[in-house]
Amino acid sequence: MRSGNSAERWTISRWSTLRLSVLTAVAAVGVGMLTVGAHAVSGAGQSSAPPSATGVQAIVPAAAWSDQNGVLDQLHGVGVLKVGDTYYAYGEDKTNGGQFTAVACYSSTDLVTWKRGPNALSLQASGDLGPNRVIERPKVLYNAATHKYVMWMHVDSTNYGDARAGVAESSTPCGPYTYLGSSRPLGQLSRDLNLFEDTDGTAYLLSEDRNNGLRIDKLSDNYESVVSPVAVLADYEAPAMVKSGGMYYLFGSHLTGWNTNDNDYTTATSLAGPWSPWKTFAPAGTNTFDSQTSTIVPVAGNKGTTYIYVGDRWKPSDLFDSAPIWLPISIGGGRAALQWVPSWTLEVAQGTWSPQIRTDTYEAGGPGTTLADGAAVTTCTGCTGESAVSGLGTLTFDDIRVPTPGQYTMTIRYVNPENTDKHAQLSADGQAPVTIAFPPTGNGNTTGVAVATLNLHAGSNTLRFGKTGDTAPAIDTVAVPQPG
Ligand code: GLA
Repeated sequence: MRSGNSAERWTISRWSTLRLSVLTAVAAVGVGMLTVGAHAVSGAGQSSAPPSATGVQAIVPAAAWSDQNGVLDQLHGVGVLKVGDTYYAYGEDKTNGGQFTAVACYSSTDLVTWKRGPNALSLQASGDLGPNRVIERPKVLYNAATHKYVMWMHVDSTNYGDARAGVAESSTPCGPYTYLGSSRPLGQLSRDLNLFEDTDGTAYLLSEDRNNGLRIDKLSDNYESVVSPVAVLADYEAPAMVKSGGMYYLFGSHLTGWNTNDNDYTTATSLAGPWSPWKTFAPAGTNTFDSQTSTIVPVAGNKGTTYIYVGDRWKPSDLFDSAPIWLPISIGGGRAALQWVPSWTLEVAQGTWSPQIRTDTYEAGGPGTTLADGAAVTTCTGCTGESAVSGLGTLTFDDIRVPTPGQYTMTIRYVNPENTDKHAQLSADGQAPVTIAFPPTGNGNTTGVAVATLNLHAGSNTLRFGKTGDTAPAIDTVAVPQPG
């Protein structure tokens, strides 16, 4: 596959790259996702600033995100808390499917790469956190008076008959947390829940009570118990609330189990109401881009605030591999609006975001790639060029180009026809490899997308895929984001 002449190799490789870039851009415009007008409307937080010269780190919704150990991020039903400059994310570890495994704790300063830390809560021998239990939607607030991190979570039996809310506390963000017990808040059923801390430090539990509706209940000063009801709304689950410009925005989902639906939001200037009629915030009929609300994360910086809609695209047969749907959501003036952005960057210090548009795509097995150790080009009708490289082995992209040094989020299109995650290692110019998880794609002709963020230097880089202990996926293409 390697051309004998380096100048010729470069030319062929670049031609191939540019051709694919154009195709990508046309495809995006064709479905109306990346028009300038649409983004001008989306307003709050969007950046017009030039991209930083430190690489292009992108949030790619619905892609497979891996932690520092190459395990798929378990950011399911997640709650996010900012402590100093660090964001902590608490997720349902779905290693045992719907049954409690752990509440995972991740940290990030860029909200692109997440590092898994010690579990915030681990499986216990018996009780609420024992085997055959359900623990969902862990949410954490920091209580400034007690100096404790307080976690609330949905606690249930596997048939969802218990319907209780659990509380745990810790003096550090990741814990481990001390489990304090569970209750039915104010004697009412409680399933999906979330927390909201108002600007005056008062905190509230949002709790789905099947008999009465979606409740807003006031928490005690230490955040560890419910003291009084504030409002009961129509029965929505998957609640999440933010406050912007003196207005409360409450998001929720209809009750359709793991299946997604058109989620709605309502607004009010007082938590007690009156609350506006519920309406959709994503285009109707998309089932909230096939996701269910988990939480809304405000990223406040020196130029504005970007709100991130965090949703779950549940995969009931394989909850572990449920995909993260993280998108910028426009919130302001009494309106909330969510658009699909296939890839975007977040300028955390500024509180702004930008669509990530320019991408160079390199085809595995095409010009400028080298195959070794059993890797071979195989037919894949759903793949770019109707081929992929399987049997890794080693697959090297000889000439990956970026203009500035820094961290770049590669988007890897791949095929995994088996029913468990596969893994591969990826290294740039001989640096320490990262391990990437590749969830099942269904069959040998359907592709999925995984991302990995690597350090590249300006100019030409060599990118090498290798195998780990288990079998690697077939690689179709690698897309490298470009500034601007
Ligand atoms: C809904 C809830 C989830 C989970 C599933 C179980 O999707 O929002 O948290 O309880 O139902 O079916």
